[in-house]
Amino acid sequence: MSKRIIIIGGGPGGYVAAIRAAQLGAEVHLIEKESFGGTCLNVGCIPTKALIHIADQYNELKKAAKHGLLADNPRIDWKAVMKHKNDIINQLVDGVTWLLKSNKVTVHKGQAVLKDSQTVIINGDNSYELAGDAIILAVGSKAAKIKFPGSELEGVIDSTQALELPLIPSSMTIIGGGVIGVEFAALYSALGAKITIVEMLPEILPPVDAQITAIIKNELKKSGVEIMVESSLTSIEKRGSNLIAKIKTKDGDKKVESQYVLIAVGRKPNTDTCKPEAANIQMNGSAIAVNDFFQTNIPNIYAIGDCNAKTMLAHAASAQGIAAVEHIMGCNPSYNSNVIPYCVYCTPEIAGVGITEAQAAEKGIPVKIGQFSMAGNSKALIEGNDTGLIKIIAHAESGKILGAHMIGPRVTDIIAEIAVAMTLGATADDIVKTIHAHPTVSEAVAEAVHGVNGHAIHWPA
Ligand code: NAI
Repeated sequence: MSKRIIIIGGGPGGYVAAIRAAQLGAEVHLIEKESFGGTCLNVGCIPTKALIHIADQYNELKKAAKHGLLADNPRIDWKAVMKHKNDIINQLVDGVTWLLKSNKVTVHKGQAVLKDSQTVIINGDNSYELAGDAIILAVGSKAAKIKFPGSELEGVIDSTQALELPLIPSSMTIIGGGVIGVEFAALYSALGAKITIVEMLPEILPPVDAQITAIIKNELKKSGVEIMVESSLTSIEKRGSNLIAKIKTKDGDKKVESQYVLIAVGRKPNTDTCKPEAANIQMNGSAIAVNDFFQTNIPNIYAIGDCNAKTMLAHAASAQGIAAVEHIMGCNPSYNSNVIPYCVYCTPEIAGVGITEAQAAEKGIPVKIGQFSMAGNSKALIEGNDTGLIKIIAHAESGKILGAHMIGPRVTDIIAEIAVAMTLGATADDIVKTIHAHPTVSEAVAEAVHGVNGHAIHWPA
């Protein structure tokens, strides 16, 4: 008999789970209170990358004369840029809606809360109940808030508001040097804003490899971004149309003046929206506690994506959604938590998968490191984007690839090669034996892997 699966939340976790469940023959009900696609599609990955793409094109045009392309005086029509971003969102939301329809997923518009371990209540104008064999919670996350005097002032914004500014800002102070902070710094500095990043820890992008962080810091500084580390915000005041952020640093208190202050200090699971306590679901702080199959302590209730806070990335949410549905439907789910790539869309891009050199040292894993600089890659040089580094971490004895961390052009696409290699348990020798097309940026991966055994070809002996 067909199983009825109820999914709360239509982001990249929930809608992918719904489609996979339908493919496996379940009767699927998906409940969403806003647009399909969640944070990622509506106010996260997709709109930021749409804006970053325009900023990158603008920068390419500005330096084109150096390569003989005379594109004098490129300018930005901000209204048209915003329309372009919104058109992409609308097209993708329509696409998801159509995919759900074509897979015969029943869609419910409204906010759902748990009534008990089998039943949800959907609060539209006329609330109603729905019971199922399994329930998947895919309710996502929201921007974390910090308390400080001045937090309510106009111009103090979060990442959603930073995507809807009426004009390109003249200046912005960004609190938090994580992924969101660095991506917005790269975006708005490329468009001419004066940016200051304020990061509490000794380094921006804390888990990223130190050599890669050094390169991106240098690039951000070249585009005029000021970076204050070991610093935290204490308060914000208004001065005319600007804001003055008071910052506590190790060298004493400082003031930074800017048009906007963006708060980007992490995200928190959205679990207060779906009443997990009504089904006695065990929590881990504000996150829902789950096992390796994304099952809560109530066996027929699963939690996937940001709301379990295991890996707050859209592609991890989708993969967890597929794994949860496969578990419900009695298939053999495959979710490899050791191979989840991460990407940071700054300029140059950053991407990685698996362990870093520092994590290998912490865990006492013996490793060999191969490195290759983008300066030795012909395609990167042709494109005028030859700042970058590829670092490969292989096990010292078996040669198995344990991780790769990269900065350079299109590495957010290239990282998939290493993810596949790791999934297949490939060694450095396996990748060396794989012929990479010339001229491509991906050759830099092969060169870095050659370097694991000490012999990159296009690098001095
Ligand atoms: P994050 O956790 O990456 O970084 C927050 C940063 O703020 C940390 O470095 C932290 O030390 C710092 N911080 C915290 N409190 C502070 C304070 N009071 N003063 C100064 N610094 C402070 O969080 P972020 O950047 O907000 O991103 C949220 C989530 O969204 C992350 O899980 C991230 O992975 C995800 N995301 C992923 C993207 C991608 O895959 N390209 C893009 C954007 C977000």
